[in-house]
Amino acid sequence: MTQDELKTLVGQAALAYVQPNTIVGVGTGSTVNKFIDALASMKTQIKGAVSSSEASTARLKALGIPVFDSNEVPELAVYIDGADEIDHHGYMVKGGGAALTREKIVAAQSKQFVCIVDESKWVPVLGHFPLPVEIIPMATQRIQAAFSQMGGHAAVRLRDGQPLVTDNGQHILDVTGLQISDPMAFESAVNQWPGVVTVGVFAHQKATTCLLATAEGVKTMTF
Ligand code: A5P
Repeated sequence: MTQDELKTLVGQAALAYVQPNTIVGVGTGSTVNKFIDALASMKTQIKGAVSSSEASTARLKALGIPVFDSNEVPELAVYIDGADEIDHHGYMVKGGGAALTREKIVAAQSKQFVCIVDESKWVPVLGHFPLPVEIIPMATQRIQAAFSQMGGHAAVRLRDGQPLVTDNGQHILDVTGLQISDPMAFESAVNQWPGVVTVGVFAHQKATTCLLATAEGVKTMTF
């Protein structure tokens, strides 16, 4: 099975977690795009979605799924999103699509976080995938220096030769060379640094369920 087929499989499997007559939290990325496409088949059974990015909002609306502002919805039953890495406790690295801050906001308002990934994302320790961090541009050098002190290397993410600008008007650093052995402590510490909007470690908002697409089918892990 190709990686694209695995993403389709797990995107469809996530439909089982969508409860009729509710608003569903929707993440961002190529795996979530498969989920959004599948969700269109249920659009008359749900009220709509809260979205974590402009890209997902556009895709949802194009399929006729109403999108609600996060502030309009006090609590969501479930949030469905992908990840760049997920460990055996449900801790994740996210933000490869630059949507990490809004993803964390929607995750925080959801009772359940169902992470949908193919098996290439399942890791024993977080840190192999470059860690995305959304930052306020004037703090770039100080934050890069702080990561250097931890043994990491933080590079500004570029698009067409210029710093990528997020949906929130900020920049992204991608940090290599880290071994994130204590994700809870790491997330708490880095989120305190002045100028950090959100670090892409999702430990406080970890997955409650992981649907893992493998060649043998979709495996379900609960944490
Ligand atoms: C978006 O910012 C990310 O957090 C995505 O959830 C993550 O990068 C996974 O994306 P893919 O499904 O495209 O691999």
